[in-house]
Amino acid sequence: MTSTQEDLIVQAQSLFAQAQDAASLENAKAKFLGKQGAITALMKGLAQLEPEQKKAEGARINQVKREIESLLTDRRAQMAADELNHRLAAERIDVTLPGRGRGMGGIHPVIQTWQRVEAIFRSIGFEVADGPEIEDDWTNFTALNNPENHPARSMQDTFYVDMQDDKGLPYLLRTHTSPMQVRYARQHTPPIKVIAPGRTYRVDSDATHSPMFHQVEGLWIAEDISFADLKGVYTNFLRAFFESDDLVVRFRPSFFPFTEPSAEIDMMFTQGPKKGRWLEISGSGQVHPDVVRNFGLDPERYIGFAFGSGLERLTMLRYGVNDLRQFYEGDLRFLKQFNR
Ligand code: DAH
Repeated sequence: MTSTQEDLIVQAQSLFAQAQDAASLENAKAKFLGKQGAITALMKGLAQLEPEQKKAEGARINQVKREIESLLTDRRAQMAADELNHRLAAERIDVTLPGRGRGMGGIHPVIQTWQRVEAIFRSIGFEVADGPEIEDDWTNFTALNNPENHPARSMQDTFYVDMQDDKGLPYLLRTHTSPMQVRYARQHTPPIKVIAPGRTYRVDSDATHSPMFHQVEGLWIAEDISFADLKGVYTNFLRAFFESDDLVVRFRPSFFPFTEPSAEIDMMFTQGPKKGRWLEISGSGQVHPDVVRNFGLDPERYIGFAFGSGLERLTMLRYGVNDLRQFYEGDLRFLKQFNR
């Protein structure tokens, strides 16, 4: 190899090294191997040589050409590797970072109670009924022995709707689930065995009252349903709901216009941190004969019990929550504790 030929190799190496992308590498290649390139020029020069010289010089030129080609291949490979490394660096993923997650939703604690109550009562043969939250005056009050203008109504002051029924009385947001007794009983024939959970409304707001809250109504009417059945059913419900046999239940005489006799149901845990204090749980009683008549049934023949319990109250007792307003603030730190 002549020193000019060696220079060519050195030159090619340096130009290839300078090329930073495929296009400039192709340009550099053309300077040596292209039609106007240095190697091509050398090949053309062979024509002027004697046959002996031609052979020897041809072999040398070919060697230079091969070296340059191999430099080119190396540089191409290197460029491809650089490009890959560059991409790998740019698109690097830190697999040790915590995932972004989907923020799993959960079921509200009061609705969890609602679902538990449904499951427990279904398991002992109760139907589950649903009814309107906008109620008429007769069904919410009068049919339940709470006559118009009776002072007892003021205990259940509510929100009125700008719409009147055929007696000219405004519709209202139901103050309890008890009107569902009337609606359901008027549409079914005994034996009637139903619960009706749902939203209820009153003009009331403090740590234990909210203008919107939830109740579950229970009604069992047949020819032979007594107060003893109420005691058995409700005690069984509380033991299932609180998953404990270590609780006792008492029926404390009370008054509701739609039941006679009426009772407040109290319960007390006999074990555990909450033991030893009576807790008020629910209203209840034997359905008043006048109300049975408003069901469209003969009170001489049909008899039974009803109860109405607050779902918030049950939820608070189950989880030890002491301010009912927390259920409606939408604070995830509070709500997440019920979905683990
Ligand atoms: N409706 C009553 C209330 O909201 C609760 C109640 C008491 C329901 C006695 C009943 C019952 O079915 O028998 O205060």
